[in-house]
Amino acid sequence: MCGIVAYIGHRVAKPILLEGLKRLEYRGYDSAGIAVLEGNKLNLCKAVGRVSMLEEKLENKEGFDGSLGLCHTRWATHGGVTDFNAHPHRDDRHGIALVHNGIIENYAALKTYLQEKGHRFASETDTEVLAMLISELYEGDLEAAVQAALREVTGAYAIAVICEKEPGTLVVARKGSPLLVGIGNDEHVVASDAAAIVAHTTQAFMLDDYNVVKISKDGFRTSDIHNTPLTPKITQLEIDLQEIELGGYSHFMLKEIYEQPKALRACVSGRMDLREGRVVLGGLTNFAKELTKARRVILTAQGTALHAAMIGRYMLEDLVKIPSTTEYASEFRYRNPVIEENTVVVAVSQSGETADTLAALHEAKERGALALGVINVVGSTIARETDAGVYLRVGPEIGVASTKAFTGQVAALALVTFFMARKRLMSADQCREFMQEMEAIPGKIERILELDSKIKSITEKYVERENWLFLGRGYNYPTALEGALKLKEISYIHAEGMPAAEMKHGPIALINEGMPAVFIANRGRQYEKVMSNIQEVRSRGGHVIAVATEGDNEIRKYVQDVMYIPDVCEPLSPLLAVVPLQLMAYHAAVLRGHDVDKPRNLAKSVTVE
Ligand code: G6P
Repeated sequence: MCGIVAYIGHRVAKPILLEGLKRLEYRGYDSAGIAVLEGNKLNLCKAVGRVSMLEEKLENKEGFDGSLGLCHTRWATHGGVTDFNAHPHRDDRHGIALVHNGIIENYAALKTYLQEKGHRFASETDTEVLAMLISELYEGDLEAAVQAALREVTGAYAIAVICEKEPGTLVVARKGSPLLVGIGNDEHVVASDAAAIVAHTTQAFMLDDYNVVKISKDGFRTSDIHNTPLTPKITQLEIDLQEIELGGYSHFMLKEIYEQPKALRACVSGRMDLREGRVVLGGLTNFAKELTKARRVILTAQGTALHAAMIGRYMLEDLVKIPSTTEYASEFRYRNPVIEENTVVVAVSQSGETADTLAALHEAKERGALALGVINVVGSTIARETDAGVYLRVGPEIGVASTKAFTGQVAALALVTFFMARKRLMSADQCREFMQEMEAIPGKIERILELDSKIKSITEKYVERENWLFLGRGYNYPTALEGALKLKEISYIHAEGMPAAEMKHGPIALINEGMPAVFIANRGRQYEKVMSNIQEVRSRGGHVIAVATEGDNEIRKYVQDVMYIPDVCEPLSPLLAVVPLQLMAYHAAVLRGHDVDKPRNLAKSVTVE
């Protein structure tokens, strides 16, 4: 979604700002803009489309060589995708420019008030209202005007503001939408995502809600919106630049698919005590008693994270024997859910910023649940607001189509399952067996990756087809949902995922000659039943592509194509079964000529409900 980068220092701001914006491109956006103060003159430039279009527009433009500036990528919420609606928004009375992530909920009332005061609006956005409000309240002190304006607004924001009248000052603030200040030598880089900062400095602090920071070249002052001074907690950003660069791969998605063995090794490293037959999760240790007493688990998430949560639910019921459900966070939040005593709510999220998931978490906490997080981004909002949690440790995920975060979420949920199971009914020996299976997963994924060219050639056979089915049962029903989601996200092919048995209750009507149906048909408790479902598709002309267990040669008689995965215990089988589906989706998108890392309309982290 929207991205912010701002710079104040001794260097020319423009290239730093544009380079930062490019590092945020992966988050998804539809327009971009920049404002730079050169001397005492504020200059703006905006463009619909990619950052490269903005760069083109900036070529030969004068007035952008100053050392203070801010820029933005916009993902439209209020108002269409136009230059006028793109950020920064400016006020002409005092020469204020502002960029904003989030939504100002009371913007309509504020706009009427400001119009009465004589302000004229150029855009349809909520953001321009905030720029005008700051201008209205400006009395020669930008920091004070920002604080005063933020006392009047409701909603969510991360903002950066500059003013012609204060050419040595950058003011930034946050409520509900992430913002970091990177501290360099005589310079500061502010961004909504660490990816735009790490090339310059790894020393940074994350703003808390209602924090306002006034920044100059060589220092900063942090306060709240009532001007009470605060001391921020400066930390070291733990992102390696290599992790957010392509490193020889053609796309981040492909890189991240290939990174899965390494990512999963990192996820489980130091967390499995094979000698004692137990899982060690530092984040959960203090809540071991509550987890032993727990009577219900509700896992909540959106998108890919929800699919991982569904697999977590199967594991918890199967191995911990605890009633568990999964919920779309957006539905859970607003349907007045019943939360009994001793309920644990688990929020699963790669970014830790998804607004729907955050809202569900707030609801669960208000209703007395113990809130756990299974999160990738360290220090993200959800991670900070849960009572305890487990980080994925899979490294930054840049590809909009989530891959290594999915397998990381499944692996982390498996660890949580083993942790809880050991406190109840699982013996050390059983736990050890599962952990040995988990240890073998990265190597097995490496074997699947070796089959990539075969998977590509299977994809080539079907890539022209506009409708696909993905079918699985048990643990691999969510895998089927994930396979379908991957395909539609990046190749724009219509795909439906469902339980293989459900197909005959309606969707079977869709099957026509040559329709691709991807079945997850690995060896397991429901293998025979899946084979029957395969027959149902075949007899209606559908073409079956099966994900099957190595050594299952028999299956070749019943399907058109097979993608083999190594043998694995059922609870962990989605970790392998999803890999060929990720690769298929990737190849389909490339073959169709789509920009895999910048799929249309999608955002990496959706920070609006
Ligand atoms: C967006 C992304 C999806 C992601 C979902 C949840 O819709 O496009 O890829 O699965 O948000 O994101 P989270 O960061 O909470 O895992």
